[in-house]
Amino acid sequence: MRGPDPRVVLGLHRSRHERRLLTGALDLGVTAIDTSTNYLGFHSHRTLARMAGDLLPKFTVSTKVGYFPTPNGAEHSLDPLRLHRAVEQTVRDLGREPDVVFLHNPEHSLQESPSHNRDALAQACTALDDATLNGLCGAWGVASWDPSPLPEVVDATMPKPSVLMVRVGLLVGIRTLEAADALSAAWGVDVRTKWGMSPFGGSTNSSVWDRIDPRVFLRDGSDLTRVQAAFRAAYHLPQVGTVAVGTDEPAHLSQLIDALTEEVDEQAIDEYRHLLRDRVRAQPA
Ligand SMILES: NC(=O)c1ccc[n+]([C@@H]2O[C@H](COP(=O)([O-])OP(=O)(O)OC[C@H]3O[C@@H](n4cnc5c(N)ncnc54)[C@H](OP(=O)(O)O)[C@@H]3O)[C@@H](O)[C@H]2O)c1
Repeated sequence: MRGPDPRVVLGLHRSRHERRLLTGALDLGVTAIDTSTNYLGFHSHRTLARMAGDLLPKFTVSTKVGYFPTPNGAEHSLDPLRLHRAVEQTVRDLGREPDVVFLHNPEHSLQESPSHNRDALAQACTALDDATLNGLCGAWGVASWDPSPLPEVVDATMPKPSVLMVRVGLLVGIRTLEAADALSAAWGVDVRTKWGMSPFGGSTNSSVWDRIDPRVFLRDGSDLTRVQAAFRAAYHLPQVGTVAVGTDEPAHLSQLIDALTEEVDEQAIDEYRHLLRDRVRAQPA
């Protein structure tokens, strides 16, 4: 049994939600899970409560609201009343208050008008802020797959999230990396409260991982596999303190934790970001 490691969150987006995964995570010191109202076909919360209700108090639980089930599939909304009700439903389904509730991909419901977007985001953030003040969750945050439109929408009058979650890793393009940094600056979020998500872009089976060697981003990555090195480097692309990663294999989770002892070569990361930026500049508009 290892001591708790706050740098790793077990993400349940693609997970089979098996109990053995959660007990394996606890043994490895991974005491945070990240889910969402819409994961597992909108059944994640109830499934967790049913198959691991006794384990949930041992975890910090984060989840997300923003997608709603309809007869025609999932629908995204920033409607503050719907968001508030979704948090209430989350508490009922999980059988406990989540530690963090993220506003899920707010960019999905933005429109052309900047003033509409500012109002819609401010009201959605206020709904989650109120839910937190009412004790329905410990804190609230924003999780954004594509933060590009958000920095210009955020202003100082909006409630500030306690946690920001953005995509990380070698598959993230420079526009998204820079938008994530701009959003962190706009909200005054620092690295300790910035989480990364999807460090492998959802899969380690993609052929891209055979064509690149992420060990070049480490000071000495010779003992690591490419997957381990990609995971370690992801904490710097962009810089985050915690990463939510998905796996159904406790042995894989163990490998990822082992990778965290390696030091990242920050100069190599900087050079890589410069290369990405130069490549974008060289492309026709
Ligand atoms: N917009 C949002 O809010 C958003 C969007 C995406 C993701 N997220 C969060 O980020 C979490 C992770 O993202 P993700 O599920 O998209 O994918 P990911 O973490 O980038 O990749 C997951 C894949 O990596 C594989 N993997 C993990 N460790 C491995 C290892 N040591 N060796 C080989 N393969 C390994 C897993 O396969 P095995 O099962 O075989 O290990 C799994 O298929 C999500 O669960 C969610 O919490 C949030």
